[in-house]
Amino acid sequence: MTYENLLVEIENGTAIVTINRPKAMNALNEKTLIELQDAFVNFTADDVIQVIIITGSGEKAFVAGADIAAMQPLTALEARQFAKLGHQVMRHIEACPKPVIAAINGFALGGGCELALGCDIRVAAENARFGQPEVNLGVIPGFGGTQRLARLIGKGRAMELIFTGDMIDAVEAYRIGLANKIVPLDQLLDTSKKMAETIINKGPHAVRLAKEAIRNGLELDLERANQYEAELFGLCFATTDQKEGMLAFLEKRQAKFKGK
Ligand code: HXC
Repeated sequence: MTYENLLVEIENGTAIVTINRPKAMNALNEKTLIELQDAFVNFTADDVIQVIIITGSGEKAFVAGADIAAMQPLTALEARQFAKLGHQVMRHIEACPKPVIAAINGFALGGGCELALGCDIRVAAENARFGQPEVNLGVIPGFGGTQRLARLIGKGRAMELIFTGDMIDAVEAYRIGLANKIVPLDQLLDTSKKMAETIINKGPHAVRLAKEAIRNGLELDLERANQYEAELFGLCFATTDQKEGMLAFLEKRQAKFKGK
């Protein structure tokens, strides 16, 4: 996979995607969004890839937002189209059956914070800074920030961040549940890769069905969501991974999952 604004490396079942526009703090323009979407279509189809890590190039920024220079002259219809493209990318990330980890190496602002919110897990470097500063530009978040931020950290905290445009550091992001963990910058990728490796060693069908249960279940009322969970739990028993996982426990040995 070769792209203009993304670097993609595949290592032991993990795809590491680096948003690579360091001169613009890895800001998301149309081309980068289209490339991200294409990359996720490929990751979803590629059986070798089991976990995806998204990070930014350099040490200053994960993604400092959507590209302000590219957005400034847009008409209303063009801006709506641009927002829709961003939404489409986040949907591809969320709907990807494989877990997606954001490794946040600096500023995650506006569309960058929204990209991190589209991922399943957020690992923050100590220098990570989060914010939805769109109000400073006379606009609102447009890649799902008003929705996903409120769903993740609650309505009150999301409103505060979005109305004030304030930036918060990694410690505050961890405290309010926006970051899953904080690590020194030089350990960010290793920690994210280790987390990916831990996940890869589990039954892949179980991990994928768990993502599906959590993601789709959250949109349902509890009664239906639990019914949905029971259906997916039942489906696990159609896999050899379930037979092997439970047999290995009973035989007091490590399970050898084949992903079947
Ligand atoms: C385009 C950007 C950019 C962005 C930074 N740059 N963020 N270019 N879009 N979002 C560029 C700068 O113009 C500058 O280019 C270079 O990157 C370095 O940035 P500096 O500002 O000089 O760096 P620094 O002083 O360290 O400040 C870093 C920063 C600041 C705090 C991240 O750059 C900043 O506030 N950026 C904007 C953050 C933001 O408002 N994001 C939300 C965007 S709206 P030059 O050429 O001068 O070197 C959004 C909406 C999403 O995301 C939904 C859309 C539908």
